[in-house]
Amino acid sequence: MTAKSPLSGRNIVLGITGGIAAYKSALLARLLVKAGAEVQVIMTPSAREFITPLTMSTLTGRPVITEFFTANTGEWHSHVDLGLWAHFFVVAPATACTIAKMATGVADNMLVTSYLSTRARVFVAPAMDLDMMAHPSTTRNLETLRADGVTIIEAAEGELASHLCGKGRMAEPAEIVAALEAAAAPETTLAGHHVLITAGPTVERIDPVRFISNFSTGKMGYAIAEEAAARGARVTLVSGPVALHASHPAISVVHVESAREMLEAAQKAFPDADIAIMTAAVADYAPATVEQHKIKREHTPDCRLHLTANPDIAATLGAAKRHGQLLVGFALETDNEEQNARDKMQRKNLDLIVMNSLQDAGAGFGTDTNKITVFRADGHTSRYHLKSKAAVAADILNEIEQCAHSQA
Ligand code: CTP
Repeated sequence: MTAKSPLSGRNIVLGITGGIAAYKSALLARLLVKAGAEVQVIMTPSAREFITPLTMSTLTGRPVITEFFTANTGEWHSHVDLGLWAHFFVVAPATACTIAKMATGVADNMLVTSYLSTRARVFVAPAMDLDMMAHPSTTRNLETLRADGVTIIEAAEGELASHLCGKGRMAEPAEIVAALEAAAAPETTLAGHHVLITAGPTVERIDPVRFISNFSTGKMGYAIAEEAAARGARVTLVSGPVALHASHPAISVVHVESAREMLEAAQKAFPDADIAIMTAAVADYAPATVEQHKIKREHTPDCRLHLTANPDIAATLGAAKRHGQLLVGFALETDNEEQNARDKMQRKNLDLIVMNSLQDAGAGFGTDTNKITVFRADGHTSRYHLKSKAAVAADILNEIEQCAHSQA
């Protein structure tokens, strides 16, 4: 089995401009799709003279975008949404004209406008005749793009469309894919670290068939576990009952049911952990006694449950925390969010707390997205917009890594 490409699951905008090398963009799109990426093609109007949108939409499975809106339906293509959707933005081939527009911000077509809106990492693969390539204005514009943080995938030397020989051939599609893969490969910033994560709900038994629990699905905790493992960490994932599976081999899952079992497993792993992230929605109360036999309605017309408070796992670890260990908690709040989150951070001796509000659509239990605000004990605050839980996991681990560096 070949290894999974780091481009798998990544969103890539492929910009095609009007040059002969546009025929190579078809192979590039094919390779990116094969690597598991979602590819959205944007063509400049002149690119369509060189390769058809039909070819590109068939290869990518997505309609090609050229204009700001579809003429017959009036459907608007938001360059802002596209720019934000992209993890990578690659222009291949990039003509001297598009390079000049990108360098100076001339937003007169969908491609350059999306470029100006994107926060993605941008790659440009120039392709043009040798004299255009060597022209001082092209050199200047490429320098400007480099200074703006754009990666230039250098053109090669060889025979050009003009039959002249020199520098100007677009890099081969496989080379462009390799450049993107190198940028996408996760950095092993957590290599050698042990990360403890609690996830999911806890289940508190009433009798052999009934229990108290909550709506947590464990998605956020599992996403953080996968991201931490991808960054090279060894992960102990203490999980309440959920319908999820951890796929990375560096994750060892400890399955638990109740808050007490979760506490026991977390306490066992904590002394050896460098980072502990408490994502679990621990049931606040458990029945004081678990009935050994099913409670029968006929015999118990007036059934009263006597509940006692569960142990606070985060606070217990917080009290045992030693220098150099980082403890992270979550706060799912409905009102007075910021104050409650900050109070929780202090009360439980956390270094960082991730707050999400049930007031925000798309945040909280069961969703595939989340919108978070991160408060650090050192006073630093970051607010994020709505993202997939995988992207939120990356943000949280970036915050934790920054926090670790500032404490070191
Ligand atoms: N937590 C925990 N053990 C508990 C309760 C909570 O480890 N028994 C952790 C959660 O995993 C989360 C954080 O503490 O990281 C906040 O959980 P929350 O339920 O919001 O906190 P509570 O202390 O229960 O606060 P309250 O019910 O007053 O909102």
